[in-house]
Amino acid sequence: MSLLPNRPAVRRAVTRCLALPLVLLCGIAAADGDGVWKSGENVYAKVCGHCHEGQVGPQLKGRQLPAAYISAVVRNGFRAMPAFPASFIDDHALQQVGDYIATSPAPSAKP
Ligand code: HEC
Repeated sequence: MSLLPNRPAVRRAVTRCLALPLVLLCGIAAADGDGVWKSGENVYAKVCGHCHEGQVGPQLKGRQLPAAYISAVVRNGFRAMPAFPASFIDDHALQQVGDYIATSPAPSAKP
């Protein structure tokens, strides 16, 4: 006599319960690669661009903003902009994204 009367159904249910969190975890891991920022452009595209390429934050590229100013804003936040700690964007990646923004030309005007 079994405690689990319908074994295949139970196994399917258990598999589904385990599979969903795993799929979700993989999705999160893929969003940020392997947890290492690849370049300033990578950080900009994955973090800053959500607001600064949309309608939320001001345009940053093409303004020759100093990398040191950009770093200070990212670490401390600035009015409506949240701060990003070193646990999220490490010092090296922050330096890279500052250099990337400082040296990127302004995007061409949209029609
Ligand atoms: C959640 C949205 C959001 C994200 C993500 C974000 N910002 Fe911002 N940022 C803002 C907003 C909004 C402002 C304008 C703040 C204000 O004036 O009240 C701002 C302002 C700034 C400024 C000052 C601009 C100026 O005109 O002096 C800099 C520099 C900046 N952000 C850099 C960055 C960088 C670099 C990143 C990525 C690491 C980033 N931001 C990510 C929303 C965001």
